[in-house]
Amino acid sequence: MTMKVSFSLNGEPVETDAEPRELLVDVLRDRLGRTGTHAGCEQGSCGACTILVDGHSVRSCLMLAAQVEGCDVVTIEGIGSPEGLHPLQRAMSEHHGLQCGFCTPGVVLSAIELLETHPDPSRSEIERWMSGSICRCTGYSGIVDAVSAAARGRVR
Ligand code: FES
Ligand code: FES
Repeated sequence: MTMKVSFSLNGEPVETDAEPRELLVDVLRDRLGRTGTHAGCEQGSCGACTILVDGHSVRSCLMLAAQVEGCDVVTIEGIGSPEGLHPLQRAMSEHHGLQCGFCTPGVVLSAIELLETHPDPSRSEIERWMSGSICRCTGYSGIVDAVSAAARGRVR
């Protein structure tokens, strides 16, 4: 049995079928084709599935799709464009904040919430905030450098 769920996705109204216990990450990827939201651990540990719901970063593997009825949902597809990257995306590129890119959508969306709530974070605040995103590749320095550069407007 499925139900209808309606919400705003990257600024556009969407309505989708979802089973009552279907995870938001699965609905985004499998029913709505937003595969930029990555499924890693699927138990709330890695941060790869992080998206914004009503402006707050959440792990979409820990939410049911039914919980976003009427909400404003933003995935990485709603951030920047190939021709016009978001400053955080440019900073990630300029400061080597990504390699394979698996963690990157979650990193960017989490960092967006940080910079919107703390526009001038210290390096240790960035490290603490970003500690929920596990990266197998970068060693994290590039990620912290990128967020710091974006916060200070030091992005070309
Ligand atoms: S896939 Fe959701 S936290 Fe890892
Ligand atoms: S860039 Fe590969 S997991 Fe972070």
